[in-house]
Amino acid sequence: MIEAIDHIGIAVKDLEASLPLFQEIFQPTDIHRETVAEQGVHIASFKVGEVLLELTAPTSDDCPIAKFIAKKGEGIHHIAFRSDGIGADLQRLSDAGIRLVNEEPVDGAHDMKVAFMHPKSTNGVLMELCQSALS
Ligand code: CO
Repeated sequence: MIEAIDHIGIAVKDLEASLPLFQEIFQPTDIHRETVAEQGVHIASFKVGEVLLELTAPTSDDCPIAKFIAKKGEGIHHIAFRSDGIGADLQRLSDAGIRLVNEEPVDGAHDMKVAFMHPKSTNGVLMELCQSALS
């Protein structure tokens, strides 16, 4: 079941260039940094209430986030929803005819299993399901 918004992914070209602006706006006390090699991203994230804002920068020019920025520019990249059963939710979405980027969950940041729906199936909105891999 999809339970809540977990995080909002924001595509930026360069974390160090963008982070001061977001720090100025939100004044986070704790910033989590991580590189997810499998996804080709460097991230810096912090909580705003219950939701993480996740600045996401490409690790190279040919990873998906770099292609997104080249095509659409910096900005909101995806919305991630927390699931309590990502496998069952993916099956349900697939059965409903929604195209999935990831048929099976892959490793994401924050020790999460993640999977994306294809934006062509979802009114152009890139949406992710995520579930903690630790619980
Ligand atoms: Co995400």
